[in-house]
Amino acid sequence: MRTREKRAWAEPFKIKMVEPLRVTTREAREAALAEAGYNTFLLHSEDVYLDLLTDSGTNAMSDRQWAGMMLGDEAYAGSANYYRLEAKVREAYGYRHLVPTHQGRGAEHLLSRLWIRPGDRVPGNMYFTTTRLHQELAGATFVDVIIDEAHDATSLHPFKGNVDLAKLEALIAEVGAARVPYVSVAATVNMAGGQPISLENLRATRELCQRHGIKVVLDATRAIENAWFIQRREPGRAGQSIADILRETCALTDACTMSAKKDLLVNIGGFLALNDDASFEEARNMVVVYEGLHTYGGLAGRDMEAMAIGIDEARAEEHMTARIGQVHYVADALLAEGIPIVQPTGGHAVFLDAARFLPHLPQKAYPAQSLAAELYLESGIRAMERGMVSAGRDPSTGHEHQPKLELVRLTFPRRVYTQAHCDVLIESICRVWDRREEVTGLDMVYEPRYLRFFQARFQPRPPAAPAA
Ligand code: F0G
Repeated sequence: MRTREKRAWAEPFKIKMVEPLRVTTREAREAALAEAGYNTFLLHSEDVYLDLLTDSGTNAMSDRQWAGMMLGDEAYAGSANYYRLEAKVREAYGYRHLVPTHQGRGAEHLLSRLWIRPGDRVPGNMYFTTTRLHQELAGATFVDVIIDEAHDATSLHPFKGNVDLAKLEALIAEVGAARVPYVSVAATVNMAGGQPISLENLRATRELCQRHGIKVVLDATRAIENAWFIQRREPGRAGQSIADILRETCALTDACTMSAKKDLLVNIGGFLALNDDASFEEARNMVVVYEGLHTYGGLAGRDMEAMAIGIDEARAEEHMTARIGQVHYVADALLAEGIPIVQPTGGHAVFLDAARFLPHLPQKAYPAQSLAAELYLESGIRAMERGMVSAGRDPSTGHEHQPKLELVRLTFPRRVYTQAHCDVLIESICRVWDRREEVTGLDMVYEPRYLRFFQARFQPRPPAAPAA
């Protein structure tokens, strides 16, 4: 039985090149973490054993992608790789127009400037850090319209990325459709734990928006993972291919922003894709100002070639089953040990529920940041905080957001780590779990103005500090 379970998601590749890992001592890790201000973003990667900070740009490319890198046409204008990528994006995602960007936030920047007017509201199925920031910089206020279950780490709802149509309707009634340029729909929802949105819900969102003349923008960063969940979980979809579900998803939206560093198995790249001719003209003009000429958008020709090849590899059923299978292998083992994680398990990461892992810490002591620091000390594993530090401050009041979810994200790069690595990870988390009461929490001692989680610095609270 065991063997069959593994066979179900075993890697559909073998390893041709290896990159040595460095194992460090506890003393070395203590010094490195103090030097990094207890922020895992500030660690040197050479001091990290298993790097689960992010699945962004950390993927292993295939031999075909590396071969494609040699076909880079590094012309300033009209690179052959651009045209191949354009054709592939049209085929896979279905939008008519492509604007390449250096990564996802480049596309978010262009789209926010294009469609937002100061004072607008942009509803979305939970915020993402860079997406919301670009909306705010363009003068909009983000409004969370995800279903309540998404904010509950224990809810077993199969599509926790769904939009709450009543919340959306109420917002439109309150501010008027003219103040809502588009609804920002992510598939999957990173900050909710990599949770999918169903096609049924996306279709209903689309219909509601159409009645009010509001556009729908897809954050397609992990839309292929989302398609895998739809195939597995949504009634009537089992026989449909991931590729078909992806196209159907995109067809329900007007545009997408894309960080190709995730689904598309590359180390850098992104794009904006859209259907409207006039908006495309404007975006193509704007990209020249902020990214680079419209046929490279801040990328090398070889990067666009690797991305085009990645689009085919990412849509392969056996790839996606292995990718998500590995994440679920770790999640199931942690659940068996009684360790609190977000359920159901999402696509790109296992999220430790730091609020339940460290219930003795108040949110002001940054439980998720503290747990990520502790896991690094234990075993050199690097994870990421997704709680109060990531949530930042309300720009109008200056107060810290207090998100309901206080999570540590163990993010899995695609095709990088083995099952033995997964087992080391499970063992390390169990060891921290066994001595969780010793974790004292952190105080923030430096806070940068934008996206503070990347560069903030902390200090451990002394062991005897009162819990407040
Ligand atoms: N949208 C989603 C859903 C993302 O997860 C990210 C990046 C972006 C947009 C921005 O894309 O980094 O290419 O500019 N997420 C990374 C992460 C940083 O670790 O989750 P980018």
